[in-house]
Amino acid sequence: MIPLPNNAEIFPDGESVARAAADRLVTLCAESKQERIAICLSGGSTPKRLYALLGGPDYVGALPWDRLHWFFGDDRFVPWTDEASNMHMARAAFGDAPIPEGHLHGIPTDGTLDSAASAYAETLKGFYGADELDPARPLFDLVLLGIGEDGHTASLFPGKPALAERQAWVAPVPEAGLAPFVPRVTLTFPALASSRQLLVLVTGAGKRDPLVRIAKGEDLPARYISSIGNLTWLLDRAAADFG
Ligand code: 6PG
Repeated sequence: MIPLPNNAEIFPDGESVARAAADRLVTLCAESKQERIAICLSGGSTPKRLYALLGGPDYVGALPWDRLHWFFGDDRFVPWTDEASNMHMARAAFGDAPIPEGHLHGIPTDGTLDSAASAYAETLKGFYGADELDPARPLFDLVLLGIGEDGHTASLFPGKPALAERQAWVAPVPEAGLAPFVPRVTLTFPALASSRQLLVLVTGAGKRDPLVRIAKGEDLPARYISSIGNLTWLLDRAAADFG
């Protein structure tokens, strides 16, 4: 039996994974006493259904949209109008969600890759109100992550320099390890770990291989996903059924 990640919860399908994540966000917001609630969004295709649910009739009325601020764990260094952009994906998936102006904090894609990473770090520091992460005060209330078939998470790819970054909150990724092969900007492990809750959403049989490789101890980036708060893997059966 290949062990599942610690704190793994298995659901029948992708829809139930998305609904479980949405329910956790609703609960988090209901329990929060904070004026502002910071959510770090993942990219790719897995979270599309979650974002559509949040902006849809089942959840839109249950969220304090005026208190919610949405950030990105990574993005492709392409214009926000580009199909490959996570900002483009999130805007389309959220649909008519009433996100107030200035509450969806996209990673800049003008200037250089380095200037975009620096600018986003400043955005995060400005929101956080400090230049150093305090272990007693998470940057994010909730971080959402996925994993790639190569075991990457955010845009932290195997063998790439950003993996080792422990000071900067945001790093440039000149070479992506998986398609789309465009430069990326990614939050680093310390920034992602600065979270009250962290959910890793993993669905589909295509993710069995990285899960097995991680379970067998392979040194893949996703095995270093951590949180100073609660970390939970939300898996569907298709991804988890490798035991
Ligand atoms: C990205 C994501 C990335 C994603 C995984 C899984 O920009 O691609 O942030 O880390 O979470 O690659 O992607 P899928 O959900 O498309 O399988």
